[in-house]
Amino acid sequence: MEILDGKKISNQIKEEITVEVAQMKERGEKVPHLAAVLVGNDGASLTYVGSKVRSCKKIGFESTLIHLPEETTEEDLLKQVHQLNNDPAIDGYIVQLPLPKHIDEEKVLMAVDPDKDVDGFHPTNFGKMALDMETFISATPFGIMELLKRYNVDTEGKHTVVIGRSHIVGRPISILMSQKGKPGNSTVTLAHSRTQNLKELTLQADIVISALGVPRFLKADMVKEGVTIIDVGITRVADDTKEKGYYITGDVDFDNVSKKASFITPVPGGVGPMTIAMLLKNTLLARERHNN
Ligand code: GUN
Repeated sequence: MEILDGKKISNQIKEEITVEVAQMKERGEKVPHLAAVLVGNDGASLTYVGSKVRSCKKIGFESTLIHLPEETTEEDLLKQVHQLNNDPAIDGYIVQLPLPKHIDEEKVLMAVDPDKDVDGFHPTNFGKMALDMETFISATPFGIMELLKRYNVDTEGKHTVVIGRSHIVGRPISILMSQKGKPGNSTVTLAHSRTQNLKELTLQADIVISALGVPRFLKADMVKEGVTIIDVGITRVADDTKEKGYYITGDVDFDNVSKKASFITPVPGGVGPMTIAMLLKNTLLARERHNN
């Protein structure tokens, strides 16, 4: 069994980007600038955005955090989005999800300039991804593909079962895994909450990608020997004995499933850190594209 070490690989990617940014600086070029818009005070979102901004600083990017109050109106958020679209200093930006309930998420994501949409959430970018055109691939599916690539996991002709059909993870990773390429060329089944015979499907899978958000859902009796497991779940489970009052767990019963797996991602330290690295990669790509 080999651990797919997202922390290690994400550090490698960040080091590679750091070198490129240093070279940009030496040539007297503008360095990439990422902005993040956060509305409200959701605990997990604050952690993620904080981590994204800190990573920018570490690798030599410029970064701007725009933290707006929970009561921000949709109109004001849209104004902020237009301002970022029109600000030549900003190469790429993200609007952290989820947004407060009174704001129409779709409307906001549609307003983001696709050329600055480093999250890859705009329909133009999602469509380009589905058509295998140059675009911004969303950080989580992009990170999973990069992790499989760097560990040389053989996906060619294999059966991949994706659990979860979200727009940010399940749907796009099911498309990417089926596309031509390495990794890719996989036969994909996209399972979700209405799937009736999930265990039958996962037992046939060479690769299981779980993006469900249900702690320890995937048990050892649901997978075959030699399976590759990608655990995208990150759930906070309340626990008074922990310093923070919670612990983080994935969708997979790691202790038991790992005994049958050939490759497996841990939680934390698997897909999570890859997501941040790929957002930075997309921001670097945005800078390079704006140059050309
Ligand atoms: N919320 C959970 N994941 C993400 C992400 O990748 N990007 C944004 N903007 N919000 C998120």
